[in-house]
Amino acid sequence: MPRILITGGCGFIGSSLASELLCLGYQVTVIDNLSRRGSELNLSRLLAMGAEFHKSDTCDPEALDKLNDSFSCLIECSAEPSVLSGAVGDGARSLLNVNLMGAVNSFEWARRRSVPVIFFSSSRVYPYDRLNACHYRETETRFEFVDGCSGVTQAGVSVSMPLDGVRSLYGASKLSAELILREYALQYGLPAIINRCGVVAGPWQMAREDQGVFTFWAARHYFRLPLQYIGFGGNGHQVRDLLHIQDLVDLVVRQVAALRDRPSDFRGDIYNAGGSIRSSLSLREATEICRRLTGHEVSTASRIEARPSDVIWYVTDNGPTGKVFGWEPKRSAEVVLQDIVAWIKDNASLLKEILV
Ligand SMILES: NC(=O)c1ccc[n+]([C@@H]2O[C@H](COP(=O)([O-])OP(=O)(O)OC[C@H]3O[C@@H](n4cnc5c(N)ncnc54)[C@H](O)[C@@H]3O)[C@@H](O)[C@H]2O)c1
Repeated sequence: MPRILITGGCGFIGSSLASELLCLGYQVTVIDNLSRRGSELNLSRLLAMGAEFHKSDTCDPEALDKLNDSFSCLIECSAEPSVLSGAVGDGARSLLNVNLMGAVNSFEWARRRSVPVIFFSSSRVYPYDRLNACHYRETETRFEFVDGCSGVTQAGVSVSMPLDGVRSLYGASKLSAELILREYALQYGLPAIINRCGVVAGPWQMAREDQGVFTFWAARHYFRLPLQYIGFGGNGHQVRDLLHIQDLVDLVVRQVAALRDRPSDFRGDIYNAGGSIRSSLSLREATEICRRLTGHEVSTASRIEARPSDVIWYVTDNGPTGKVFGWEPKRSAEVVLQDIVAWIKDNASLLKEILV
């Protein structure tokens, strides 16, 4: 079976992909610098399943060059994935180093060996000032999109949304990496697929307050700890769509096969990948589901002032992603939260230190 390289392979998305690909019989090599708290738990799982692991950093091109050349695909999942990183303090240089230079080093490694690339970008490339200027109606539990935004409908944000605007340094780092990968694809003929993911959640996400919010929400309920609704009135009415990690894994397995069978069809094409309007929910609605699933009621304070770069509403319009890859997300937001709570329950003593 072909060998696949996953950078950031001990993270949430990388390790979920690695474990599925190993189950399907692929050989998998994972590199990670283990900077994400909890990534070592994912590493143990992958080693037990037969993955090859190198502790290295994508910011170090020489470390990448030490890997042998027999890979059929590179899946680039290494990043600092929080939209808040670089927003305050001195984190900007480190964010750009990892998200931009780390990605460029990985693309360059792939270009020199003609290895097709799958890259994980983010819905944060869509400007938040444009999204927040749309017209919304507020119901008892959530905001609903009405109109007023090019490229956005009630079905969600499509890849045709104009990109001029302000998006956060994180979003800018992902958009810059996308642009560079497209240049590599078009100028050097490197087969490449870019996935712009919305909120992905599920088991083995080592959530923090600033990243992986729905897993964090479920964990705070499970461990009976207080929560806070932040921004947009402080009622928890902001909305996201949740993509179950297994739905994302199903998509990427199809993309690996598509790159193998028809590599010249993919030249840095961009695909939205999210749960869609069917799996959308507000934080307030998430609270109700988590209360039901855990049997625990936690206090929810309100903070009026929004966090930097936050959006009132983001729902993914997957557009052609489904048609091109014969895929659609199957699991509802409730199933995502159910699976997270079951995972926390099964691993509570390990996870308590990491998730809260
Ligand atoms: N999780 C989501 O909801 C989501 C949404 C949109 C986009 N994404 C993107 O998907 C990708 C994976 O995200 P994730 O949720 O798995 O994040 P994660 O933090 O769980 O995984 C990232 C992994 O990369 C590793 N890493 C960080 N810097 C590294 C470096 N310089 N060299 C080697 N390893 C390094 C970390 O230790 C971690 O294990 C990222 O590019 C992220 O921007 C994630």
